[in-house]
Amino acid sequence: MSVLVELGGVRKSFGARMLFDIAHLGIEEGRSYVLTGPNGSGKTTLLRMLAGLEPGEGSFRFRDSLVRFAPHYPERLQRMIAYVHQHPYLFHTSLRHNMEYGLKCRGVATKERRRRAEEAIAWAGLAERQVTPPESLSGGEKQRAALARVRALQPDLILLDEPTSNLDKEGRAQTLALLAQLRDERRTVIVACHDQEIISLAGIGRFHLDDGRMQ
Ligand SMILES: Nc1ncnc2c1ncn2[C@@H]1O[C@H](COP(=O)(O)OP(=O)(O)O)[C@@H](O)[C@H]1O
Ligand SMILES: [Mg+2]
Repeated sequence: MSVLVELGGVRKSFGARMLFDIAHLGIEEGRSYVLTGPNGSGKTTLLRMLAGLEPGEGSFRFRDSLVRFAPHYPERLQRMIAYVHQHPYLFHTSLRHNMEYGLKCRGVATKERRRRAEEAIAWAGLAERQVTPPESLSGGEKQRAALARVRALQPDLILLDEPTSNLDKEGRAQTLALLAQLRDERRTVIVACHDQEIISLAGIGRFHLDDGRMQ
């Protein structure tokens, strides 16, 4: 299996405070991983660095390219690496428009866009919620819509920040089922989480960030 991401000596500080110093981390293409660690250990910050949203130091290799973290992050990588916020934002339009928007920005033709949006809505199990205004969806439905939307863009790497936090039992189970599907589809995914159910998902790699080090 080929290595998609390789980090070496990746450091993040806020002023004089060193948040983490990660000696090495490798992500294989086609595998899912969880990133665990106590609150404040830097999980969100690390995902944001990988997504080009946060400056930092160290070596970041993406396939054969050496990447510099923000503010020098190359624009073409922003399309390859998708980050889903802990509280994903949906446009207050329709589910279909939410699915189509990013595809439109990428120049996908109308017919293909429609097809992929429909497929995404079905994948998330939201076919019956198509006409529901997104702001009326439950937390779990919003999270599933956000996962489907990012998956429809077919990025090379998907970064998910605590996708099951703030969900009830049923919402967690449904989101977990989608994460298992992403794993089975051999997408490359990193999920920051506390949720024991995700952590124990079979066939998923695990990283633990604590006290500034990756274990
Ligand atoms: N812009 C910032 N300025 C100063 N400190 C920050 C900033 N962003 C995050 N931090 C600090 O970095 C630490 C790690 O935050 P975070 O990455 O959100 O951790 P986690 O997601 O693991 O809970 C926290 O102590 C937080 O207060
Ligand atoms: Mg966080």
